[in-house]
Formats: sequence, C-alpha cells, structure tokens
Amino acid sequence: MAGRLAVVGAGLMGSGIAQVAAQAGWQVTLRDLDDAATTRGIGGIRKSLEKFAEKGKIEASDVEATLARITPTTDLEAAADADIVVEAVFERLEIKHEVFRALDKICKSDAVLATNTSAIPVTQIAAVTERPEAVVGTHFFSPVPMMQLCELVRGYKTSDETLATVKAFAEEIGKTVVVVNRDIAGFVTTRLISALVVEAVKLVESGVVSAEDLDTACRLGFGHAMGPLATTDLTGVDVLLHASKNIYTDTADEKFFPPELLQRMVTAGDLGRKTGKGFYTY
Ligand SMILES: NC(=O)c1ccc[n+]([C@@H]2O[C@H](COP(=O)([O-])OP(=O)(O)OC[C@H]3O[C@@H](n4cnc5c(N)ncnc54)[C@H](O)[C@@H]3O)[C@@H](O)[C@H]2O)c1
Repeated sequence: MAGRLAVVGAGLMGSGIAQVAAQAGWQVTLRDLDDAATTRGIGGIRKSLEKFAEKGKIEASDVEATLARITPTTDLEAAADADIVVEAVFERLEIKHEVFRALDKICKSDAVLATNTSAIPVTQIAAVTERPEAVVGTHFFSPVPMMQLCELVRGYKTSDETLATVKAFAEEIGKTVVVVNRDIAGFVTTRLISALVVEAVKLVESGVVSAEDLDTACRLGFGHAMGPLATTDLTGVDVLLHASKNIYTDTADEKFFPPELLQRMVTAGDLGRKTGKGFYTY
C-alpha cells in the first residue's frame, strides 16, 4: 500500500529512489540542503521519466503525475509524517549521524529510518538514535530506475518488523531484495566488488595484465556485463577506494587493502568517467 516516503539527499541515488517510489504511487518529499540541489534532483527525475515515456515504457501523462507526487524541500521537518525515510546523503559517517540524530527527533514513533549507505555499518548509523530497532539498510543500485536489486541490511538491533516493512516497500516499488542477515562492513555486494577490484588493480599494477584484457576476461570468461575496472570508472575510483578502506578498517583483512595505484589515481584526480579519466579515457 503506497504511503509517505521522505528521501534525504537529492543526489544521484536519492532522486532515483524518490522517482521509483513516486512512480509506484508513494507521496514523496525530497530534501537537500539548498534549492539548487533539489532543482537538480527534480530535473534529473524529469529527464529520466521523459526517456521512459519516449520509449513507451510509461504513458506521457505519467511524467507530470509522477512529478506531482514529489515535493522538493530544504526543510528536514518535511519528514515528520513519513512512514519510511530513506537517507541518501554523502557517504560520510558524521553527516549521516547528524541526519539520523535529527530524524530521530522529527519522525513519527512508528516510522522506519533507512540508510542507502554502500559501506558504513548500519549499526554504527543506528547507534545515535533512540530507536535502533527501526533503522535498516536499503542499499539501492545506480541508476535506481534501471537496476533491479535492493540489498536489505539488518543492523545489530534491527527488528523483524522493520525488515518486513522495507522489504514490502522495496518490492512494491519494483525491486528484488536480498537480505544481509548480519551487519558487516560492505555488506555482500560491496564486499564482493571490493575484493574483485582490489585483486584486479593489483594484477594491472604489477604488469600481469592490461586493464582492457582483465575486463575482457571477466566479461567473456565469467559473463559479467561489465569488467570490474570499467565498473570502477563508472562508480568512481574514489568511491571504490573509500569502500575498500572502510572494509579493511573493519576487518583488517588484507584482501581489501587498497593497492597504491588506486590511491595514486585518486590523489591525481583520475576518478573515472566523472573526470574523463580512470582506468580508461573518456
Ligand atoms: N552512487 C552510487 O552508485 C551509489 C550506489 C549505492 C549507494 N550509494 C550511497 O548512496 C548515498 C548517496 O550517494 P549519491 O551517489 O547519491 O551521492 P550524491 O553526491 O549524488 O548526493 C548526495 C546528496 O546529499 C546531499 N546532502 C548532503 N548533506 C545533506 C543533508 N544533511 N541533508 C540533505 N541532503 C544532504 C548533497 O547536497 C547531495 O545532493 C551514499 O551513502 C552512497 O554511498 C551510492
């Protein structure tokens, strides 16, 4: 049953989550820090919906109808009557803490507070609230309107009821969920991609194989849609570095320790597609 959703952070992920929920009939508030950010978010949603309409995947009238269900705002108080809140702000613990402390005060007592973090333990985010049982990870994938998966992550204190609520929500908005039963750094998907990318970068760094050949091996040998280094360029070399560092910090498992090449690329500003150069040139 469609309800009220508040999305905090109108960037790439937040606007995508707002879009798919509104398409499924949810009333959505989309909060960011200033009007420029919410306008950018809404602009991205409009573009995506128009593309779907052009391809005949939705009716032309659905574009405006969907947008009408999304209210951009710079006021976090807009989350006060939300049934579910999904936080999608920068991947920095202190910023997420600030948001969750505020949400804990603002939101209804029975609201579920979800985080879209890709690698920060949910338990660590939940710990600053008075309701850790209502905090859960909903890890959507980019681009949200296209990607089917939502990885649900139980924090140490997440209740069964909270998990059931976000499972029903994610399925209602068209996603397939997998449940991560224990709150480990990087969950399942970020752990897997980090281990693969770290090993891939080591092989390239030591001259064993070129980036192109490594990606070709994964595509043609394993049937991956995209090689790990092309994926890293798309996601952001900095994002991968940050994720593997986080997992390494938590586990002290050296298979996640970022190779020097990854660190130097970030220092040099070769962050992938967004800067025009990463493992490939764009
Ligand atoms: N980009 C991806 O592929 C991807 C995939 C899965 C998960 N994630 C996770 O999703 C989250 C968001 O990532 P993104 O790629 O959308 O980032 P982004 O940089 O595109 O957007 C983040 C937005 O949050 C806003 N913001 C910062 N502080 C805020 C606050 N206090 N209140 C409201 N808005 C605030 C920023 O202004 C920005 O618009 C991160 O935790 C990231 O790790 C990203």
